[in-house]
Amino acid sequence: MTLAAPADWWRDAVIYQVYPRSFADGNGDGMGDIAGLRARLPYIHALGVDAIWINPWYPSPMADAGYDVADYRDVAPVFGSLAEAEALIAEAHALELRVLLDIVPNHTSTEHPWFKAALDAGPGSPARQRYIFRTGRGDGSEPPNDWQSVFGGSAWTRITEADGRAGEWYLHLFDVGQPDLNWDQPEVHAEFMSVLRFWFDRGVDGFRIDVANALFKDPDLPDLAGSELQPPAGDGSVEHPFWDRDVVHDVYREWRGVADQYTPPRVFVAEAWVDGPERLARYVRRGQLHSAFNFDFLRTPWRSPLLRQGIDQVLAALRGVDAEPTWVLSNHDVVRHVTRLGLPQRETIPRRPEGVAADAEPDLDLGTRRARAATLLMLSLPGGAYLYQGEELGLWEVLDLPERMLQDPTWVRSGKKQRGRDGARVPMPWSADGPSLGFGPSDGSPPWLPQPAAWAGMSVAAQTGVPGSMLEFYRGALAIRRNHPGLGSGPLRWREAPDGVLAFERDHGFLCMVNVDGQPIGLPPGASVLYASGPLTQGGLPRDTAAWVQV
Ligand code: NOJ
Repeated sequence: MTLAAPADWWRDAVIYQVYPRSFADGNGDGMGDIAGLRARLPYIHALGVDAIWINPWYPSPMADAGYDVADYRDVAPVFGSLAEAEALIAEAHALELRVLLDIVPNHTSTEHPWFKAALDAGPGSPARQRYIFRTGRGDGSEPPNDWQSVFGGSAWTRITEADGRAGEWYLHLFDVGQPDLNWDQPEVHAEFMSVLRFWFDRGVDGFRIDVANALFKDPDLPDLAGSELQPPAGDGSVEHPFWDRDVVHDVYREWRGVADQYTPPRVFVAEAWVDGPERLARYVRRGQLHSAFNFDFLRTPWRSPLLRQGIDQVLAALRGVDAEPTWVLSNHDVVRHVTRLGLPQRETIPRRPEGVAADAEPDLDLGTRRARAATLLMLSLPGGAYLYQGEELGLWEVLDLPERMLQDPTWVRSGKKQRGRDGARVPMPWSADGPSLGFGPSDGSPPWLPQPAAWAGMSVAAQTGVPGSMLEFYRGALAIRRNHPGLGSGPLRWREAPDGVLAFERDHGFLCMVNVDGQPIGLPPGASVLYASGPLTQGGLPRDTAAWVQV
């Protein structure tokens, strides 16, 4: 069953990110799976979201938690089967939840048949042309250039040829198990369009595109010579050798053509860490992608001028191309925002999301207050929003995972200096007791990452029906967002407000006030409070608190 719907449902959708290995474990092997997700669909539905995005569930050796795909047209046995995936899609649709998958076009796994064929076929073969193989520098024993992997270390790995000799090098911007594809090959384009159709034909409503701003590399493979691993000039006057190159947009025009052949049309959201809103807007120009995560918002410290400026800039840039912003506070790659917001806030926006030291001491009460306020801010801005599983429970980043349990390749590739992203990926607590807090069956294996004991009190069971709990707070906010005609797409008008306070109106008399870092402020006379992120005081709205008000 496909979902009939307004063709532009995605413009203001709230989409819940399911990180399948950590959501719910149906078969008791300690790893989340489709069976677990199917059983919990009613929970997601009751939360009041429009769709789910599921991180990669494809067969994979799991060098990067499934972002190393060995087969784009199947499901890893650890997650279930293709038949279960189809059942899940049907069940989600029956609940009027749309389903987005994750497509990984920049790289495959080293276990992908194409890469195996490339190894077997030898230098210069068409099979090697699908990837980026080069001979090394000097006597061949030095990498072809100085590019570094995002996870640390060289972005090149040397292979052993079939005759046993040390041979060519292949490029991997991420883990050694993630060889970069060569998008200058028409066959690569054809293959990914076929993969899109494979899932669209099974009712999938769209895709999140992994590192949508990579894909193409300067064929000369110039050294970066110490320049940062980020696009140099936001105006695009200098092209970076691999990030955000102009030619990538041709791919998304092709993909849009595929999506538009379906009824209803299928949709895309780009994961593109680019240099500012103008560059982001290029991905959502007419004829390309529908939406793109606005990561500037996620990186913005809890400071009112920075928040306001970021909101204005992205609205201006995206409205210029008739697109809506897509807000996000957390995902599986960044420090959970309860923790982030409980740390000292910077004066400026960092260029990349920052990690957190294992011995950091976030103020989780403060972080939670701010997280609630940030959620009301996000959900009342124009456009769509993504929620990362567990944020509706107020889960924090787990900082004290034992080193031997860390699985993110960042840990090893950084020489065990950066712990990586596992702390944001700890399995969900569903019940207040039981060995895995209801993540899996009570006689199942322990979860793949251990949960903090304190998460018993954060579990779905512990929060359900408890007034003021984070879970009930999210449910209430999402219900208002659904029903208020001023929310979702549409204009935003700033109201004058004292320093430290953000105040903006939406249509139909909706006012959002966020006291980020100001003095307590009274609400407008005659206003009625629809919702607040925390208690209001005699003085009105205290700092680190947001209110939705009807005026
Ligand atoms: C972005 C994904 O979100 C992240 O988890 C992954 O490691 C990289 N892309 C590489 O695929």
